[in-house]
Amino acid sequence: MQLPTKLTLLALASSVFASPALQARSETGIAYYGFENSTMTACGIYSNDTDFIVGLSTDYVNWENRDNCFKNVTVSLTDDPSTSVEVTVTDACKDCGDSANVYLSVAAFEALGVLSVGKLNVTWAFVDGSN
Ligand SMILES: *[C@@H]1O[C@H](CO)[C@@H](O)[C@H](O)[C@H]1NC(C)=O
Ligand SMILES: *[C@@H]1O[C@H](CO)[C@@H](O)[C@H](O)[C@H]1NC(C)=O
Ligand SMILES: *[C@@H]1O[C@H](CO)[C@@H](O)[C@H](O)[C@H]1NC(C)=O
Ligand SMILES: *[C@@H]1O[C@H](CO)[C@@H](O)[C@H](O)[C@H]1NC(C)=O
Repeated sequence: MQLPTKLTLLALASSVFASPALQARSETGIAYYGFENSTMTACGIYSNDTDFIVGLSTDYVNWENRDNCFKNVTVSLTDDPSTSVEVTVTDACKDCGDSANVYLSVAAFEALGVLSVGKLNVTWAFVDGSN
C-alpha cells in the first residue's frame, strides 16, 4: 500500500471512526511490543505482559511531562482499522524512533496480530480527543 499523505490519513481516520471522540488527530506509525514487568514505567507503575498498556514516544510522555499518563489510546491496524485495541498509556518509549511509533504490551500486541511479526503498522489516537 502506498503511503498516503497526512491529509488523506486524516480524511480516512474521520470516515472510519464515526465516534466524535475519535475524530481527533491520529498518528500512523509502527507498533512494537515489549516486556515491561520488572522496571517501573515512566508513569510510575509496574505492569506485566497481560495488562493492556502502551508506551508512547518521549514527545508524549517523559520524566518532565506525565500529562498523558493513564489516558486511553485506541490503536488500530492501519490496513484494517476494524482490528483495534484500547490501551492505557503507562510508559515512554525511548527507543521507538519516530514520535508516531509506540510499544504495546504482549497482550495488546496479540489483540492486533501475532508476536512473531515483531512490528505492525498502526494508527492511534487518544480516546479523549487530546492531541
Ligand atoms: C508498513 O508500512 C510501511 C511504510 O508504508 C511499508 O513499507 C510496509 O510494507 C508496511 N508493512 C506491513 C506489514 O504492511
Ligand atoms: C515478564 O516478562 C518475561 C519476559 O518476557 C515473561 O517470561 C514473564 O512471563 C513476564 N511475567 C509477567 C508476570 O508478566
Ligand atoms: C498483572 O498486573 C495486573 C495489575 O496491573 C494484575 O491484576 C495481574 O494479576 C497481573 N498478572 C500477572 C500474571 O502477574
Ligand atoms: C482504558 O483501557 C483499559 C484497557 O483496555 C480498559 O480496561 C479501561 O476500561 C479503559 N478505560 C476507560 C475509561 O474506558
